[in-house]
Amino acid sequence: MRISLFSFLYRSTRLVITRLIYFYQNLFSKPKDLEPAVKIGDGILGSVFIFKKIAFDYNIPKGCEIDIYNLKFPSPLIGSSFKSDANVLDMWLRMGLGSIIFKTIMKEERKGNPRPRLQEVNSKGKRGLFNSLGLPGPGIKKFTEEIKDHVLWEYDRPIGISIGGDNKDDYYDNIQKIEKALLNQKVQYFYELNISCPNTINGQTICEDPRSLHELLSLVKKKIKHPISIKVSPDISNITLKELGEVCQSFDRIIINAGNTHYRNKAELGLRDSNFSMNGGGLSGVTIFDRTVEMVKLFSNFKIPIMATGGISTIDHIKVLKDSGASLFGMATSLVLDPYCVPRINRQF
Ligand SMILES: Cc1cc2nc3c(=O)[nH]c(=O)nc-3n(C[C@H](O)[C@H](O)[C@H](O)COP(=O)(O)O)c2cc1C
Repeated sequence: MRISLFSFLYRSTRLVITRLIYFYQNLFSKPKDLEPAVKIGDGILGSVFIFKKIAFDYNIPKGCEIDIYNLKFPSPLIGSSFKSDANVLDMWLRMGLGSIIFKTIMKEERKGNPRPRLQEVNSKGKRGLFNSLGLPGPGIKKFTEEIKDHVLWEYDRPIGISIGGDNKDDYYDNIQKIEKALLNQKVQYFYELNISCPNTINGQTICEDPRSLHELLSLVKKKIKHPISIKVSPDISNITLKELGEVCQSFDRIIINAGNTHYRNKAELGLRDSNFSMNGGGLSGVTIFDRTVEMVKLFSNFKIPIMATGGISTIDHIKVLKDSGASLFGMATSLVLDPYCVPRINRQF
């Protein structure tokens, strides 16, 4: 009852805010842009935080927990890497996520691509998000200053640290800096290598080149004992995905994160030129779910724990993915559209 009520309030408030913002943008002939609504929404969530006990606090029922490489996830639901706002991440953990993964961090501070670069879209009758943010973020220096005493460690749940890079050295240097910052901290964490990162200098991603992944893991594994999740793109061919699986299997303490946004051209999604600054971007949400299942099945042939990411929002999605071989379930778009899916699913395990 409480879940349904707050879910309704959340969805209605979100709808009103986005419609008002679009109305304003239309009135003043500005391009349609979802980001102001996200900022206002995050601000409102921050200000209703005084009601956090009643609005956001949900116990994770016993029986949901899972242990992977000594990381103790109280629930297998994971907040996928896409957000860094501490208040919002805190809210999702309160609702019952077993872990969150910070938004991918790059070496230097980045402003990301020009706006508009985030839209809500309808693909095949299903709601989703379409983004080409271009990995905006504070850069590794500021991130390492903040990570040491981050409020989220208080949950004692595994925290994922998503690393991006323009080349292998960037990934390695970023990890080393974080290791230094977290030295002697008694906290649970794992790394996630966002090798689908489409921002490398030569335009190719490590995800497209299994040999590069092997070199990167050989480098990183010399220093790092913490588990490493390898986040692979659904846009890669199944043949290359299999080769990536073989590389991952040759190292210990690896998790495969099967799934990310799907690359689409903006015209395919019916977006006007003025409403999206880049030619294409990443589609997310329920519409990409089938490919997530396909990837999980492909990786289930390897002896590596699998996190499934892409299009998850209900217990039925989880059941299909669990039967296909996944143990952890990453969510992004569903947390934006209705985060109350988290306590709802936790109760249905
Ligand atoms: C606005 C936005 C920003 C994202 N930023 C990142 C990121 O920084 N790093 C990353 O690995 N994935 C990023 N993602 C991808 C998500 O983590 C997730 O893999 C993808 O959205 C598919 O899951 P979903 O269908 O549950 O949204 C982003 C997704 C969205 C919608």
